[in-house]
Amino acid sequence: MPPVIAPTLVQWQAQHGRNHLPWQATRDPYRVWLSEIMLQQTQVATVLGYYSRFLAALPDVAALAAASTDDVMALWSGLGYYSRARNLHRCAQAVMREHGGQFPRSAAVLATLPGIGRTTAAAIAAFCFEERSAILDANVKRVLTRVLAFEGDLAQAAQEKALWALAEQLLPEHGHDMPRYTQALMDLGATVCTPRQPACSQCPLQAVCQAHQAHAAERYPIKTRK
Ligand code: ADE
Ligand code: SF4
Repeated sequence: MPPVIAPTLVQWQAQHGRNHLPWQATRDPYRVWLSEIMLQQTQVATVLGYYSRFLAALPDVAALAAASTDDVMALWSGLGYYSRARNLHRCAQAVMREHGGQFPRSAAVLATLPGIGRTTAAAIAAFCFEERSAILDANVKRVLTRVLAFEGDLAQAAQEKALWALAEQLLPEHGHDMPRYTQALMDLGATVCTPRQPACSQCPLQAVCQAHQAHAAERYPIKTRK
């Protein structure tokens, strides 16, 4: 049985996490989705300006779907990784044509849309619909492999799959904790459980963290080059 970490993380996030980012003031899946796509490869500080400008120009999924490719690309220009913008546009068109203009309310269906991978789908479902669905991006892999002293090699698909299963076992009991729990994992990975010299003395999981007990936080995650 993995340790119980959700209540501790939820409490920590309320006190020490990031709680005033613009995409946290809404449960509109369009706004949350846009933020998650922008944040995939771009830092929060850079995203802020692009995010407000994008929403001022294209305030909902219908407006984005109807926009020209040139207009979408112009709004994205400077953020990089332009396949994100092309998929964003295609995703909006799919939501209009295949889902009646409403974002699907489950991670499983969200993940069928262009540009929405398993973690992005789970984050949208958790933030907007309180679905108990696990995220596992690079930051969360680092936190969870350390807490569990997970010895599997994440370059191997079977080991990555095993970590997904553990991430699901660690979820809060109640859906209403999902937005804050999901944000807590993101915040802990970004601000405390960093790749080098994690701030274990500031960490709410210090008492249960297996890697910390072994003085071996930086050994995790284990990922051989393929
Ligand atoms: N990176 C990815 N999603 C994020 C979020 N919701 N808040 C801050 N950083 C993030
Ligand atoms: Fe990461 Fe240290 Fe916290 Fe463990 S105790 S989760 S290694 S910051």
